Amino acid sequence: MIIENLDKLKKEVLAELKKIKDAEALEKLRVKYLGRKSQLSLILRDLKKLAENERPKIGALANEIKEDLQKAFALLEKDLKSTSKSTEDKFFDLSLPGKRTDYGHLSPLTQIEYEIEDIFISLGFIILDGPELESDYYNFTAVNMPANHPSRDMQDTFFIEDWLAESSEKKNDERLRLVLRTQTSATQVRAMEKYGAPLRLISPGRCFRHEATDSRHESTFNQVEGLMIDQDISISHLIAFLKIAFKGIFKHEVKLRIRPGYFPFVEPGLEVDVDCLICQGKGCQVCKKTGWVEMLGAGLVHPNVLKAGGLDPKIWSGYAFGIGLNRLAMLKYGINDIRLFNSGDLRFIKQF
Ligand code: FA5
Repeated sequence: MIIENLDKLKKEVLAELKKIKDAEALEKLRVKYLGRKSQLSLILRDLKKLAENERPKIGALANEIKEDLQKAFALLEKDLKSTSKSTEDKFFDLSLPGKRTDYGHLSPLTQIEYEIEDIFISLGFIILDGPELESDYYNFTAVNMPANHPSRDMQDTFFIEDWLAESSEKKNDERLRLVLRTQTSATQVRAMEKYGAPLRLISPGRCFRHEATDSRHESTFNQVEGLMIDQDISISHLIAFLKIAFKGIFKHEVKLRIRPGYFPFVEPGLEVDVDCLICQGKGCQVCKKTGWVEMLGAGLVHPNVLKAGGLDPKIWSGYAFGIGLNRLAMLKYGINDIRLFNSGDLRFIKQF
């Protein structure tokens, strides 16, 4: 009787298994037929109550059926898993909203650099790039700042260990000795050598100085150099071009304050301040409470620089300027601390 019941039970379970479509239903069936309170478990538990001669046969059969059913359950479970995974893989819900890709954007410095470039291109200037790792010669000597001249003290410099120089002869060669350029003026003589005159160029890029940093000074900052060489160039040309540039950048007339300033590569030399747009001239930490922010150095190109570039100062004259791009961006966007540019703080950079 028990043997027949066991056979019947096995057939019943196998038939039910065929109807199962998901893991949840399978689990319910497992509990019903293989769980602790299932008929099969009860038979196995009560084996000892059977007559001694029946016990081995029925015990062996019940165990065999239990193992067969466990295998059948395991097989179906595996099947269900693989079909549900493959439908998951294949299924692509076109109605779901797409994943948005985050786009980066240009830094405020690059944005303002591009604006300046557009303005000067429209005025017939070319854009020139120069190396950040520059020779001592182009950074200093070529622009009338010879070795051991006190004017070099104006720019605290990062000198590079001269791995190129094998002999002391080479070490003393200022064309091989390298510095991180302190000013974009280093491109002036490179440009004259390459393009001759007449010449109109701007040259933007990073500069480096060994500075004690504060809200207006950084050790890595950006400048844009301007150089115009032609015949009979005067300070009036310089001021006219600067006014056009500043109006283009700030979209309105900007007050400029022009002071005499010393730079070895110009004569006469000027320093140009812009009225502080951060505090509207009232006085703040950026303008050192003066209402003016020093923005650039400029002047008429020194004859020695023209000569270094292979040009005859009796024929050619020119103006040059070097604008601090960070300070320009600070005034344009109301940034009150230059150190924010290189801080890597996303809260700052995401505002532009
Ligand atoms: C020069 O670098 C000259 N080469 C500019 C020049 C070019 C003069 C051509 C004449 C003819 P100066 O060191 O003043 O000059 O720097 C020019 C501008 O760069 C400054 O007005 C300022 O806006 C910016 N600048 C200079 N040093 C720093 C610094 N450490 N951090 C941020 N901006 C700076």
